Amino acid sequence: MALRFEVLARFNRARAARMTLPHFLCETPLFMPVGTQGTIKGLTTSQLEEIGCQIILGNTYHLALRPTSELIDELGGLHKFMNWSRALLTDSGGFQMVSLLHLADITENGVTFQSPVDGNPMLLTPEESIQIQNRIGADIIMALDDVVKTTTTGPRIEEAMYRTIRWIDRCIAAHQRPGEQNLFAIVQGGLDPVLRDICVKALTERNLPGYAIGGLAGGEDKDSFWRVVAQCTAALPEDKPRYVMGVGYPLDIVVCSALGADMYDCVYPTRTARFGTALVPEGVLKLKHKAMAEDIRPIDPTCACMVCRTYSRAYIHALVTKDAMGSQLLSYHNLYYMLQVYSEKKFL
Ligand code: GUN
Ligand code: ZN
Repeated sequence: MALRFEVLARFNRARAARMTLPHFLCETPLFMPVGTQGTIKGLTTSQLEEIGCQIILGNTYHLALRPTSELIDELGGLHKFMNWSRALLTDSGGFQMVSLLHLADITENGVTFQSPVDGNPMLLTPEESIQIQNRIGADIIMALDDVVKTTTTGPRIEEAMYRTIRWIDRCIAAHQRPGEQNLFAIVQGGLDPVLRDICVKALTERNLPGYAIGGLAGGEDKDSFWRVVAQCTAALPEDKPRYVMGVGYPLDIVVCSALGADMYDCVYPTRTARFGTALVPEGVLKLKHKAMAEDIRPIDPTCACMVCRTYSRAYIHALVTKDAMGSQLLSYHNLYYMLQVYSEKKFL
């Protein structure tokens, strides 16, 4: 195992831990900004370090298409390619295909989809997903899972959960670098507590270095979402990291951390920045709004980030929609906000 997880403090079900990965010693709870083509849109890697980012998520699907995992491998792995010396995690790719390409089709062998590059039919098997992730070289790699929308009902939920268990064994068998990369399993089972329980038990028996809770944040109501997280965190091993995938909003991260989850990722802070929205303690601030045009205050007067120490709302209002710098500054502030929302620690 290439991971050490030490719980430093507990409060009810919440915990603070130290997670030692091959490239970085991370403190949990933690939020992972999402990169697509080996970059977090609008930020340099030194800016990410400056705001206290410990680990970034890369998408296998995007990287495999361009620049390709073979090229990344040839050039010394993703850390070197993107000049990021801290930790990396790659998602397995299936979820991105199903959510981005409506043409994707899942069979027992894997996920079939049409290449967005040349339109040819392609197949991503559990073995291939792991092989690609072994080439990319992230500290944490994710198993290929069969993901269904949380709002789906009927036998498809059960089928996907059992297939995810069958695929974990294929992923484990295919993993060539267990000493340098940690394979995490993903709990599926929709909103059904019986299916979630079967899945947690089966995956826990495989004794992997960490576990993710998948199939959430897809439009279900908050009550159901938190109930599934509470059930899974209670049943997963105490001494391993727990990662809630695709989550989320600041409130979700605080609630899930109180329920004993440790890791999160979401495109929300950077995506919403590109639409001109800033995250602030009161909720959100729309920088496109006319009211910002002459407002000389920073985005958030209580924020210590470079953007809030340097620029006014009026300046960002003028840039947003006109210049890429507008969304870059908003992304910087939003990620800074997300990276300290669960922490007493202030960076900069
Ligand atoms: N990202 C958000 N949710 C999921 C999920 O259920 N599985 C995978 N692989 N990635 C995700
Ligand atoms: Zn700020």
